[in-house]
Amino acid sequence: MLGVGVLASGRGSNLQAILDAIAAGRLSAAVRVVVSDVADAYALERARAAGVPARFVDFKAAGGREAFEGRIVEVLREHAVELVALAGYMRVCGPVLLAAYPGRVVNIHPSLLPSFPGLHVQRAAIEHGAKFSGCTVHFVDAGVDTGPIIIQAVVPVLDGDTEETLAARILRQEHRIFPRAIQLYAEGRLRASGRRVLVDAPAPGLDAAALINPPIEA
Ligand code: GAR
Repeated sequence: MLGVGVLASGRGSNLQAILDAIAAGRLSAAVRVVVSDVADAYALERARAAGVPARFVDFKAAGGREAFEGRIVEVLREHAVELVALAGYMRVCGPVLLAAYPGRVVNIHPSLLPSFPGLHVQRAAIEHGAKFSGCTVHFVDAGVDTGPIIIQAVVPVLDGDTEETLAARILRQEHRIFPRAIQLYAEGRLRASGRRVLVDAPAPGLDAAALINPPIEA
């Protein structure tokens, strides 16, 4: 059983989606520990409610990013974590964590990367006038939201959208694709080919998978 460690800074709805997928038998993995850099993150409550060890690691008390990540790695290793899932973890992943888990850190991001990396990305998509946005699960590398892409979901941007309405539409899809990406990893169906992640899965129907917004009227 794949041992997953989840890092989360906030409300933890993606953590919940992972826990729910496991409970429903859609994900063959175990969340062994949830770590947060925020003492009162709701993600830690969700972990406790699910009987998963919940740990706060204090950035300020650690005295620098290397020591902070070193502490996180200790906690992950204590719990035999094999794959690290960043689920709303609002810090850039540094070399200590990446060296401890090379090719074994995945992140969920609320845009269609490589468009709109970083923060406030739903607002940025609306302001840019994009007709589609979505979410991306990717392997984490040393850059900010630059690592190889595993799976993406696309949602339309509607004329009346606010940052909140678009974020909610994207979040629904995050909850579908993050557990799916972890399951593909757990099943050994992901293979790296340079920047590309080749996924051992059926090809989509090409017209059916194409999206047009606004739609072409019949
Ligand atoms: C999610 O939308 C996630 O994609 C985003 O934060 C939210 C966390 O929600 N992550 C990032 O922006 C990472 N840079 P959650 O705590 O309810 O899972």
